Amino acid sequence: MESFKSMRDFMEVLDREGELVRISCAVDKDWEISTIARQMCFSYKLDQRPALLFENIRGFSMPLLLNETATPKRAAMALGIFVDDPAERRKLMREKFWRAYENRVSPKLVEKAPCKENILMGDEVDLTRLLPVPIWTPGKDAGPYITAGGTVSRDPETGEQSIGNYRLQLKGKNKLGIYAGDGQDTFYHWRKAFALNKPLPVAVVIGPPPTVLFPQIYRVPFDELSIAGGFDGKPLPVAKCETSDLLVPAYAEIVIEGEIPPNVFEEEGPFGEAFGVISPQRPRPIINVKAVTFRHNPIYHAFMSSYVPGTASATRASIKPYFVYNTLRMAGVPEIRDIYLPEAATGTQILIVSIKKMWAFHPRHVMFAIWGSKASHDCKFIIVTDEDVNIRDPFELNRAIFMNVNPARDVVIIEGGSWTIDPSVGMSTEQRATTATKMGIDATRPYKYDIALPEEEHFRKVKERWSEYGIKPLERILEILF
Ligand SMILES: Cc1cc2nc3c(=O)[nH]c(=O)nc-3n(C[C@H](O)[C@H](O)[C@H](O)COP(=O)(O)O)c2cc1C
Repeated sequence: MESFKSMRDFMEVLDREGELVRISCAVDKDWEISTIARQMCFSYKLDQRPALLFENIRGFSMPLLLNETATPKRAAMALGIFVDDPAERRKLMREKFWRAYENRVSPKLVEKAPCKENILMGDEVDLTRLLPVPIWTPGKDAGPYITAGGTVSRDPETGEQSIGNYRLQLKGKNKLGIYAGDGQDTFYHWRKAFALNKPLPVAVVIGPPPTVLFPQIYRVPFDELSIAGGFDGKPLPVAKCETSDLLVPAYAEIVIEGEIPPNVFEEEGPFGEAFGVISPQRPRPIINVKAVTFRHNPIYHAFMSSYVPGTASATRASIKPYFVYNTLRMAGVPEIRDIYLPEAATGTQILIVSIKKMWAFHPRHVMFAIWGSKASHDCKFIIVTDEDVNIRDPFELNRAIFMNVNPARDVVIIEGGSWTIDPSVGMSTEQRATTATKMGIDATRPYKYDIALPEEEHFRKVKERWSEYGIKPLERILEILF
C-alpha cells in the first residue's frame, strides 16, 4: 500500500481502525487541551496512547488533531505499512525510508490544489479567530503556540527550498514570532536575508501529508519535498503560494503565507520546551502574515512539546531510528542491526545502536558518523552494543554496559554543539557556566569471553522436562544467547 496523500485520509483510517478517540465535549484551548494530552501521555505506555481529535473547542469551528503518528504502529500505517509484528514492521520501515532517500522525486506543480479551497488575503486574516492554537504550558508560556507548523523558506543565495518544524508564537491577528535554532535551515535563510537587508518570504504548512511531516521534523540533508515523493516513488503534488514563489503541499490542511522582515527582532517566549523546562524570553525574528489558504473543513494539527512523555517525543521515538539508519548508511558505516531512541530522552538525546562488530573502532565509527551529520549532530548520548543485545530491553542494555565498559577506555566525551535548550547547562546566559558535552559509550564486548552458563544442551533437556518440575510454564522474558 502507498502512503496517505493527506492527513485527513490517514485520520479516517485511524478512526476505522480504532486508533483515534474523538473528544466531542466542549474543551478550552488555553489550558484544557494541553492538560488532557499530558494526562493521557502520563497514563499509558507509548504503544497504548491513541490519536486524539478535539472536535468541540470553545469559540472555534476547527477541530484539532494530536498524536496521530506517535506510535511505531501508526507511523508505519501513515506510510501504508499495516504490519503487526514489530520486527517485520521495522524491516519494512527501514526499506521505505532508505528508498525515500535513494529514489528522491521532485515535487510536481498541480492546477487544482485543495489547500486553496479558501483564500484570505491581507486584512481578512485574523489567526487568533481562525485557528484554535492552544497554550501548551498554561500560566507559563508567553501565549498560544503553533507547534506543528512546517516553515517553508528558500536560501536567498542558492534558491533551495526547505521545510522545518519551528515553534511559532501567535502574537496577534497577523503576526507570529519564530524560533529556528542555530544551524537549522530557516536560521541560515533569515541570517542571509538579513545580511542583504531583504525580507525572507515564508509559508507555514499545517496538517501536511505524513510523508512531508516526517522529514519536516528531522534535519534531512536533501529537499524534504523530494523525500516525500521518494517514499512511494511518485512526485508530491504542490501548489505555488499566493504571495511568493514558495511551493507547498497541495493537500495540506492550512497554509499561512508571510515574510520575515529584515533585522526586526522582538521578544519571543517564555515557552515550555521539548527538553522539559521553561526557556526564557529572547529577541527573535517575526513573521508578518499576508495570506492564509485552507481546505474546506480544515483540521488544525498540533504537537505537544513538553516535559516527557509527550506527543512530539513519541513521534520522534517512532520515526527517528529510520532517519538515523539512513545517516549511517550514507556515511558507509556497515553492519547496523538495530537503532533505538527512548522516548524518555525526547526520542533524540539518547541513541542506542547495535552492530555486528567487525573491528575494534567500529563502534566509534558509528558515533562519529552520527555526530558529524547534519541530522544528529545534537545527540547527547550514543551507546553502541553488540548485535545480540536487545537494545529495547533495559535489563540487557544495563548488563552489556556493566560487563563490557571500562570507562577510562570506552567512553568518548566531546564538547559543544548541543541544543541551547539543554537544561543540564542552564538556558540563560547567566546560567551557562559551561558548554554542553556529549558522550559515546562503546558497550560492545572488548574481547571474546566465555559466558558463565551451563551448556546449551543442558538447557534444552531442562526445557523438555519443564512440566515435570511443577514450576509454572516458561515465559520468554530474556533470551539465552550462546
Ligand atoms: C514539535 C517539534 C517542535 C520543534 N520546535 C523547534 C523549534 O522551535 N526550533 C527549532 O529550531 N527546531 C525545532 N524542532 C526541530 C526541527 O523541527 C528539526 O530539527 C527540523 O529538522 C529542522 O528543519 P531543517 O532540517 O529544515 O533545518 C521541533 C521539532 C518538533 C517535532
